[in-house]
Formats: sequence, structure tokens, C-alpha cells
Amino acid sequence: MTTKPQHSDVTGLPVFPGDRDARCPLDPAPVYQEWRRTDGLRRVNWNGLPAWAVSRHEDVRVAMTDPRISAEVEMQQGSHGPGVTVFPRMDDPEHARLRRMLTKDFTVKRVQALRPEIEKMANTFIDEMVASGDAADLVQAYALPIPSMVISLLLGVPYSDHAFFQDITSVLMSRTTTVEEKLKANATIFAYLLDLIGKKEHEPDDAMISRVLREYVEPGELNRETLAMNGFILLNAGHETTANMIALGTLALLGLPDTLARIRDTDDPKVISGAVEELLRHLSIVHSLVARVATEDIEIGGQLVRPGELLVMNLPAANRDPAFYDDPDRLDIDRDTRGHMAFGHGVHQCLGQVLARAELEIALPTLLRRLPGLRLAVPLSEIRFRNDMSIYGVHELPVAW
Ligand code: HEM
Repeated sequence: MTTKPQHSDVTGLPVFPGDRDARCPLDPAPVYQEWRRTDGLRRVNWNGLPAWAVSRHEDVRVAMTDPRISAEVEMQQGSHGPGVTVFPRMDDPEHARLRRMLTKDFTVKRVQALRPEIEKMANTFIDEMVASGDAADLVQAYALPIPSMVISLLLGVPYSDHAFFQDITSVLMSRTTTVEEKLKANATIFAYLLDLIGKKEHEPDDAMISRVLREYVEPGELNRETLAMNGFILLNAGHETTANMIALGTLALLGLPDTLARIRDTDDPKVISGAVEELLRHLSIVHSLVARVATEDIEIGGQLVRPGELLVMNLPAANRDPAFYDDPDRLDIDRDTRGHMAFGHGVHQCLGQVLARAELEIALPTLLRRLPGLRLAVPLSEIRFRNDMSIYGVHELPVAW
């Protein structure tokens, strides 16, 4: 059952996500400190809808695991596919049934086997950067192509179509495009994937779409439309998030030369994985996407939430909660990062997290080692941050080496 969000006026409500301080663009909006301190939940305007922003670590943990809170949020912004529900917006048991069909391609073992391939990609993109001069936009030249190529390979989608699906993702992830534009983008990618599925039925390969066709569509457990839409979810989630972590993570490290040098010079994989985990916590790029809806009366953080009311998880605030982490605003690659929620929490926790970690553990040190003179090519004030997108990051990152 989908619980429709209640409509009411958003006049006067603070907009979520809040405005960051332009001088500290890697930190969440300063106002979250007050939200966390004074209210458990804060009534906000989220994409034109009233919602409760959940900002304390403990409250997010509760909200993401309480069965009275559902992921079946009926989005008003047209971000759903045409008539098809996607598993991230479903509750168990149906969510679990669909998710299980995809997990095989995201296991530790499968990702481990992919590592040499990812290393090769990272080095090839750096070779191309070096061959083309001594400056580039790191987003287009490196941060975006690596995860995009990896997810294309996993799914069996031709990477040569990457410009097409990256454009579609930008429209869907933008907080400023219209419902009509989003619906059109959805229909286009849906048609593209259905067509691709048709081709795979005749010429299967050993990638994911062909595997799911063989294991679930042919025996009648899954229809082509749902496979197409879930393929799109993976394509979308698979490159946009990691790409922004690579670019924003690089920017964060350029501002901390000692930390950068430790990551560049170490041969200890634990230092690298600790650094990646801390960057994930510190940057919390999923700053506005994780929404839920109450299905019954429930009290969270001392606030009564009524059925049909929306909740939006303020992951950047939760990951900087001083009640959970000491000195939370400090980027400290030696800290114990356990319990961070950059990948969410509970049954919807990120399906691609093992892959994302591997990509970051390869992409960041490879870049720093191959280009030891890496630096920003413009002042920080000229960099366009993605305040306008559901996934935070930078639109471009002009660098030189
Ligand atoms: C779910 C973050 C990379 C696929 C999530 C959620 C977060 C997240 C916060 C929870 C959403 C919710 O509860 O509503 C990230 C970050 C990434 C990343 C920060 C990179 C650094 C990836 C990659 C893939 C992926 C590489 C796959 C190819 C998914 C999927 C879900 C998900 C399918 C939905 C899972 C479910 O509902 O069961 N991710 N993600 N993500 N992520 Fe990621």
C-alpha cells in the first residue's frame, strides 16, 4: 500500500537541504546544528512538499528501521518510471524479493574480481588526461567515466552510450527540472533499456541484464518492464554517486595536504580504506534523497509524526552529530567511522556499497600517485557546487598537475 503524502502549505518553512556556508562548502548547512540541538525533527519544505527533516544520528537510525515507516513514498516530482515501481521505493517482502535478484553482482567476491579492471580504467583515464595537456576538468575526465564504465560493464550496457544516460541522470537528479522534463527523461531511458533487453534476449552476454533475464524473466518471476526500470536504477545510482565522491573527495584532500600525502604515499590498504570511509562520512553526498512516509502514529525524537507525513533523512547532519562522533566536523582518517550512514541504514542500505568503496579505494590513490603535482586550477570560490542536485558534489573540478 502506498501512503500518499499529505499536502499542505510550505509557506514559511525552511527549505531542505539548507544553504551551505559558501566559505565552507564541504560542510552541511550551518542551520542543521541548531535543528539537531533544539528539535528532534524540523518541519521543512522538501521539493515543495512539507516534510520532517530527521537530523540526529539516533533519530535517523530509528526512522530507517521502524516498521511503521515505509519507503513507499509516492514521489510528486515524476522521478518514478512510467507505471513501474522500483525496489528502493518498496517495502519488504517485495523489496527483498527484487533486491535478491540483483545482489549476486555486488558481492565482495564479484567486486574483488573487478578490481584489476577498475585499476586499468583509472590508469587509462589518467593517461588520456596527461596526453591531452596539463589541465582538465576532473569530473568529465576521471570522476564520471570510471564509475560509468564500471556499471556499464556490470550491467552489459554499451559504454559508448554513456553521454546519453548521463544526460538523463542529470535531468532526474536535478532539483530544478520540471515534472514534465523528468517524465520525458524517464520514458526515454525506459524505452532504451527495453530495447536493450530485447537485444540481449537474442544475443545474451555474461553481464547482469542477461543473467537476470535467464534466471528470473524467462521462468516468469519478473517482467521485462521491472527489469528495465531496475536496470535504470542501477545505471543511475552506479555512476552519479561514486563520481561525486571521487571529485568532492579529491577537492577535500587538496585542502588537507598532510592527509593527501599520507594517502598518496602509503602501501597500507587499511589507511586507504579508513580514509575512504571518513570521506564518505564527512562529505555525505546523498544530502536530500532519502525519503520515507509514516504509516501510523509514531514518535521520533520527541515529535509525533502522523500517518501520511513525509520524513527526509538528513544524512549530512546525522553523520556530523556530536552525540555520536567526537569533533565531528574534523576530517580525520584515523577515526573510528563505524555507524556512519553515508550509505543509508536498514534494509535499503546501499546495494552498491562494496563496489563504491572499491572504486574510491582505487580512484583516489591512483590519481594522487600518478599526478603528484595535482592542484586546483581556479580559486575555490569559482567552483560550482551541486546545491541544485539531489546528490551533492561539484559540477566541474578544474585541476592542473
Ligand atoms: C541505496 C548512497 C553508490 C546502488 C543507497 C542509499 C544511500 C546510498 C544513502 C539509501 C537510500 C534509501 O535508504 O532510501 C550511495 C553512495 C554511493 C553509492 C554515497 C557512492 C559513494 C552506489 C552504487 C550502486 C548503488 C555504485 C550500484 C550500482 C544503490 C541501490 C540502492 C542504494 C540499488 C537501493 C537499495 C535498496 O533500496 O534496497 N545508496 N550509494 N549505490 N544504492 Fe547507493
